[in-house]
Amino acid sequence: MIALVAMALSCDRLSPQVTAAENHDDGTGPIVIGHFGSMTGAEATFGQSTDKGVRLAMDERNIQGGVKGRMIELVTIDDAGKSQEAGTAVTRLITEHHVKAILGEVASSLSKAGGAVAQKYRVPMISPSSTNESVTLIGNMIFRVCFIDGFQGYVVAKFARDSLHANRVGVLYDQQQAYSKGLAKEFDHAFRALGGTITTSQAYTGGDVDLSAQLQSLKDTNPEAIFLPGYYTDAGNIARQARKLGITVPLLGGDGWDSEKLTEIGGDAIEGSYYANHYSFEDTRPAVQNFVAKYQKRYGAVPDGLAALGYDAALVLFDAMDRAKSLNGGDLAEAIAQTKGFPAVTGVITLDKNRNPVKSAVMLVVKNGKPHYFGTVDPPTQPLPEIKDVEDTGGGEASMLTKLLQTLVNSLALGALYALIALGYTLVYGVLRFINFAHSDVFTFGAWISFTFANWFGWAKAAPGYGLPLILVLAMVTCSALGVTIERLAYRPLRRAPRLNVLITAIGVSLLLQNTGTLPWAFGPNPQHMAPLVADKSLATIAGVHLRLVDMVVLALALVLVGALQFLVYRTKLGRAMRAVSFDERVAALMGVNVNRVVTITFAVGSALAAAGGLLFALKYEALQITAGSQWVLLGLTAFVAAVVGGIGDVRGAAVGALLIAAVQEFGAAYLSTQLRDVYVFTILIIVLLVKPSGLFGRAVVEKV
Ligand code: PHE
Repeated sequence: MIALVAMALSCDRLSPQVTAAENHDDGTGPIVIGHFGSMTGAEATFGQSTDKGVRLAMDERNIQGGVKGRMIELVTIDDAGKSQEAGTAVTRLITEHHVKAILGEVASSLSKAGGAVAQKYRVPMISPSSTNESVTLIGNMIFRVCFIDGFQGYVVAKFARDSLHANRVGVLYDQQQAYSKGLAKEFDHAFRALGGTITTSQAYTGGDVDLSAQLQSLKDTNPEAIFLPGYYTDAGNIARQARKLGITVPLLGGDGWDSEKLTEIGGDAIEGSYYANHYSFEDTRPAVQNFVAKYQKRYGAVPDGLAALGYDAALVLFDAMDRAKSLNGGDLAEAIAQTKGFPAVTGVITLDKNRNPVKSAVMLVVKNGKPHYFGTVDPPTQPLPEIKDVEDTGGGEASMLTKLLQTLVNSLALGALYALIALGYTLVYGVLRFINFAHSDVFTFGAWISFTFANWFGWAKAAPGYGLPLILVLAMVTCSALGVTIERLAYRPLRRAPRLNVLITAIGVSLLLQNTGTLPWAFGPNPQHMAPLVADKSLATIAGVHLRLVDMVVLALALVLVGALQFLVYRTKLGRAMRAVSFDERVAALMGVNVNRVVTITFAVGSALAAAGGLLFALKYEALQITAGSQWVLLGLTAFVAAVVGGIGDVRGAAVGALLIAAVQEFGAAYLSTQLRDVYVFTILIIVLLVKPSGLFGRAVVEKV
């Protein structure tokens, strides 16, 4: 004990010394610099483009002899676009790779997380493209080469006022990203200062799939444009959902839209939208055209703003290294801070006392699937006028009936999807008495394999009428095979082991599937857009509510499948065998039931239903997040809750529970608060479990001692 305490104390005394020690350079060997960025995940193109820009700058410099006669080396660490990973990535760059300086991140929230670590170790960091004001306020080691959001908000506001002549604009922002939240605020401020009105400001969380409640609220206030200060994957998806709800006004964005994937994900829905950015590849300035030519020659693609900023950040760093007394943290930071009139691709860079440059921005318009130059906005020469509080006049609320009906339709369609997943949990639990936590991954697999098949057949843009049934069958068959394999390899060997072991194995299988799915040879690290297997049309309009073909297909198919399952379990011999195994496995075996066969079939059927759910999910929401996304886990959990609420093990219960949960979510989002969607689910769970512990349809189980 005493030895341990002594050790702990001595560690404590050591650590401040380590952290306070300045980053030291011995003046020999290659100069290692670090880049941390989202090389995978929903913002994967951010990190990928930045890395390409940085490498281009570095290789050019190395050909000219490097910096201070030493070669430059780059270490890139992927943070998958997650704030929690950013700090670790920077720590590793500093403590494992001993980098002299760090480039990154793109997303402001991640720069803040990583920047805190860089500041602590006193290693200079230059963010190429984080625009949130607070990033460089972390401390004297943190710099950036892009403009800040106070200016960007003004750029979009000015554009909306002067070019769109808009008086009334609505806002929809990502409440979990510092960038999105900050930019929404800055825009709000500037737009009102310029005499406009914000009709409503709605929030979502990155990766949310269903934004119909927020969009409906926006629509109700009749805006002339909607500002979406989020990242491209969300912006593309929101655009699609907005158009489906009949919102036709122009959409506006900030630099977070900058990705070639924007139009891939947003398709026609994003056409005619505008966003602010740091540069346009169509800019005729020689510095820009030179860079575009070099980049294209090396990578075969047109550089986006991130690539240009990555390139610029590296150039600014090398320039400062040339001037710095030494490459020790303090000396290098001092040299970066003195950057003045540096001619970069995205403009001339002079850092102010807060380590930010002042630069102009461009507005781009999306036309024929490409961002085109629309105009340049220079920093304002005078401060914005004070905001006069303007009365909101125009625009009426949508009728109460419309809102009610719309919410009802949404609940039914969502409930049907939940039901298909919930049935898989219930079936397996019913027969084997264990919770298959890998089930939501089978569902995810169903969505992705449907996407893969559809693209194989070349239906990415349009599909023949037999497309849907064919893909449905293929997806169900592959998913069944997957489910059966999982049971054989992971669960069957543990049939007699304690439940806890099986549960842990299930979680392991789940992680294995999630992570394997993101490998490049599997489904890859980028979000994707589902092929249109169901024509995008509205069948009828009742009281202003569109009944969409997709939703009807989802509902009809779910009904048919649930009915078929009910029949299978309660009316066939196989069903009787399943119920027998569920009741008592050993007795069933003694009575001649082939238990292994029944279990295999249970997994096959449950997985096939999950496949149908996955396909329908992909058709309804069109946006597929990477397989290791938390969105899928949450979906699986929600469906699992539906199964428990309905009484786990009961087929009808799962269906009813799913509808109930979906209704609670949709009505809560529409009438209370959209932010608390998932809280409602668990509130219902707790209430049901308190009142009827075995669930709505469940029978009380007598523990056999
Ligand atoms: N400005 C965004 C942020 O701070 C990141 C970004 C920059 C995205 C440039 C695209 C292009 O989070």
